[in-house]
Amino acid sequence: MFDPEKFIEEKISELGEQIEGKAIIGASGGVDSTVAAVLVSRAIKENLMAVYVDTGFMRKGETEFVSNMLRELNVNFKVYDAENEYFEALKGVSDPEEKRKIIGEKFIRNFEQVAKDETAEYLVQGTIAPDWIESGGGLRDTIKSHHNVGALPKDIGLKLVEPLRDIYKDEVRKVARKLGVPVAERQPFPGPGLAIRIIGECTPEATDTIREACAIVEEEIDSASEKGEMERPWQYFAVLLPVKSVGVQGDVRAYGYTIVVRSVQSVDGMTAAYSKIPHNVLERISTRITNTMKDKVNRIVYDITNKPPATIEWE
Ligand code: XMP
Repeated sequence: MFDPEKFIEEKISELGEQIEGKAIIGASGGVDSTVAAVLVSRAIKENLMAVYVDTGFMRKGETEFVSNMLRELNVNFKVYDAENEYFEALKGVSDPEEKRKIIGEKFIRNFEQVAKDETAEYLVQGTIAPDWIESGGGLRDTIKSHHNVGALPKDIGLKLVEPLRDIYKDEVRKVARKLGVPVAERQPFPGPGLAIRIIGECTPEATDTIREACAIVEEEIDSASEKGEMERPWQYFAVLLPVKSVGVQGDVRAYGYTIVVRSVQSVDGMTAAYSKIPHNVLERISTRITNTMKDKVNRIVYDITNKPPATIEWE
């Protein structure tokens, strides 16, 4: 039986011994990296610098949210604005593995820069067990190159610290609750961010569309769950397809993109069952997305695939 209190106590003391000097961590606002940041920060105090890299593929309102949270948790942090750099690097790229590798590599390079500025020798990461298992750990096939693991270049030049690598998501959440981290119940968000929810090229326009669509799916499902209309799913978001279809607006022909609503129940992300969202909730999502982005999106579809055979994300 996993004991979060014992885990916290042992980790903090272990981290204090392991890290001799300054460390940096990429704080994405997700439960994994926030928990890792708080644990290391408790162990080495201001010798940790948490860096929030704005890759341009973050959720709506995320930069402000994460900044406020880290401030309240007493974690030393800075915001690194790199949005244009990522768009530039992804121009013309539509292969999912290539996108993941480019983002992962860029991320690490940004960190090397920050590490230099901070004179840090250690890189802390919020890698959890399924991340490295699915990235081809041991005898398994590489399903996806998870950001932070498969994309990690060999010449990184920083000593890696992964305090959560042996535990699973449900256990991370237990640790988060004990530490008072306000994102314990937050749904998971992938390292490469919204970039893997845009099928095909990640243009700034496509990114704005998926950011808005994800926010609508999140808000509508949160509100329906709070009202007791449905059980809150484990993860729920939108995916933008590069597929256009014919629609009608007023009495004029429209030709717009397709958004997928993806929502799953899971315990640790390794397997998942698609959520049976009530149709009235689906309808509210569909109407709101098409009303908000009239000139861009005119068709909403619902993903009814389990994992396996699908994965949770589309890329
Ligand atoms: P998949 O799509 O592989 O996702 O079924 C399983 C869980 O992992 C999240 N995910 C990632 N998390 N870096 C992460 O930290 C990644 O590169 C990554 N790719 C997928 C996904 O959102 C789901 O919760």
